[in-house]
Amino acid sequence: MTAAAQWRPMRADDVDGVVAVAASAFPDHFERRDCFAERFALFAQGCFVLAEGDAVKGYLIAYPWPLGAIPPLNSLLGALPEARDTWYLHDLALHPDMRGQGHARPIVERLASEARAQGAVRIALVSVNDSVPFWQGLGFEPLAGDATLARKLESYGAASRYMVRAL
Ligand SMILES: CC(C)(COP(=O)(O)OP(=O)(O)OC[C@H]1O[C@@H](n2cnc3c(N)ncnc32)[C@H](O)[C@@H]1OP(=O)(O)O)[C@@H](O)C(=O)NCCC(=O)NCCS
Repeated sequence: MTAAAQWRPMRADDVDGVVAVAASAFPDHFERRDCFAERFALFAQGCFVLAEGDAVKGYLIAYPWPLGAIPPLNSLLGALPEARDTWYLHDLALHPDMRGQGHARPIVERLASEARAQGAVRIALVSVNDSVPFWQGLGFEPLAGDATLARKLESYGAASRYMVRAL
């Protein structure tokens, strides 16, 4: 019998499992293992996994990042900004077996509570994989961007959108 899947804070030994889920969820947006490890090292309080026993079946990674500034894909951040008013939800991904079972909403709400408690006023993200309606259901709205924002979105694909949820 396997344990029911539950969200919990990410641990250092989860990184390989996270990388495996990311590879299946974002085949067009490869990111190196050290990018995931670095985000965890910089901001563990924004990193969660959906664990089923010892297996990682999903993850969420978020960290403070300036509004309208999109981190380039597959790149190390170096350091986080001092301003913590905007948290950037870098990835939310579930193993295909785990989708459609209500696992996404609770972790997004948990992140929103954590961010609010730590003084953030909004969460931003880049929607890919045609996920705009999904994110709208979770309180995010597309932010009409300028040419600079549009250029930054290019590496995420033509259908990507920058979205924001006020907390
Ligand atoms: C996006 C993803 C995390 C959603 O997971 P999920 O298991 O389908 O989500 P849930 O079952 O928890 O659904 C959460 C809510 O969103 C709704 N929803 C799910 N997909 C939707 C869609 N395409 N359009 C509109 N609403 C959607 C659900 O109906 C549910 O609403 P409810 O809470 O009112 O019932 C999952 O499909 C995934 O890992 N995809 C690959 C990675 C990815 O694309 N991540 C997001 C890109 S930025």
